[in-house]
Amino acid sequence: MSATQKDSARDGLEGVVVAETRLSEVDGLKGRLIIAGHDVEELAGRIPFEAACWLLAHGKLPSSAQIDEVQRALGAARANAFQNLPRIGDALRMGNDMEALRASTAHLSQGDSGAVDQSTELIAATAVFAAARTRTRAGKSPLAPDPTLEHAADYLRMALEHRPAKAAVDALNTYLVTVVDHGMNASTFAARVVASTSSDMVSAVVAAIGALKGPLHGGAPGPVLDMLQAIDSPSRARSWLEAELGKGHRIMGMGHRVYRVRDPRAAVLEKAIEQLSKAGLATERLTLARAVEKEAERLLQERHPERALRANVEFYTAVLLDAIGLPGTAFTPTFAVGRVAGWCAHYLEQQKAGRLIRPASRYIGPRPSERP
Ligand code: COA
Repeated sequence: MSATQKDSARDGLEGVVVAETRLSEVDGLKGRLIIAGHDVEELAGRIPFEAACWLLAHGKLPSSAQIDEVQRALGAARANAFQNLPRIGDALRMGNDMEALRASTAHLSQGDSGAVDQSTELIAATAVFAAARTRTRAGKSPLAPDPTLEHAADYLRMALEHRPAKAAVDALNTYLVTVVDHGMNASTFAARVVASTSSDMVSAVVAAIGALKGPLHGGAPGPVLDMLQAIDSPSRARSWLEAELGKGHRIMGMGHRVYRVRDPRAAVLEKAIEQLSKAGLATERLTLARAVEKEAERLLQERHPERALRANVEFYTAVLLDAIGLPGTAFTPTFAVGRVAGWCAHYLEQQKAGRLIRPASRYIGPRPSERP
């Protein structure tokens, strides 16, 4: 294939607009993320996850009564999802944590939980299944939800057993709101492709979970934590990173397909970690992470002067989720706990827009006449 042909095939669909959406916009040059009319900085740290779910579903922020309404609906749906656990038991023990989440979710049929709407059912089930897997992995039985708690608090309680500190719940709410939606990322696109075939919402979410699992998308924060643990001290950052790059490895948590500046979500999460530090959590890790980020940025700049490779959301996700007590294996499932609200909203939007997504490919194999 010639260079021009390859270019017109748009490897990775970079820059190709595949849908119109009212849900979010990513401006990669300015480093700006708008979620349903609000800058991410206006939302994260200021509203609970319930309000972000409402915002995506209704296009405007809820009143406090409406937040309570979402909290009650999610609480009831979590209780119902928990009833499904005996049925999906083996799936929870599968391979890694994202495989377990994918398999558990695949056991659902729409309407299983009796939740008032499909999105609520899936948002609730994702938290219940992810937390149950964290417990199962630790050799413990899943904990039943407490429907009176807000979603973030109950997710942490179900995963960790103890009732979490307010600072931890606030940090998790900030995280879930920050990642709730992000333009046409790979998992959202996967969900929209499934939606466009008029398939069901469970299938769309299962496809999205599969896409999120990959280390180039949502699978990076676990490896970021491994990296920080291996580096251990700011003074070791440079030599460790140089050795990784020397082996041809990518530095996890750095670089982005769309952002040509620092991912704005990295700054939002870094601020949330500062709050956690004030509550006595994460202090040393934050200092280390900042040093590693600075060094990684410098080394990547030397190697790729043509392209800004800066910290992405996953870099500080690892620090935040670790500080609130979640194990590294639960990081990507926790990403799904937030992003599932975006997937469901995109599913509904795509269904309304209604056209089958069916792109073209260019055949580069032999023609029958050219076959050897
Ligand atoms: N570490 C080292 N090199 C990197 C890099 C990283 N994190 N990210 C990109 N590069 C390099 C690539 O190797 C490539 O170099 P080459 O031209 O010599 O082959 C160049 O930068 C361009 O990268 P490209 O693969 O075109 O970028 P992309 O838009 O396809 O990829 C990511 C974007 C996010 C997949 C990529 O930056 C990455 O793999 N980051 C690490 C994983 C991660 O943090 N994922 C979470 C994303 S939110």
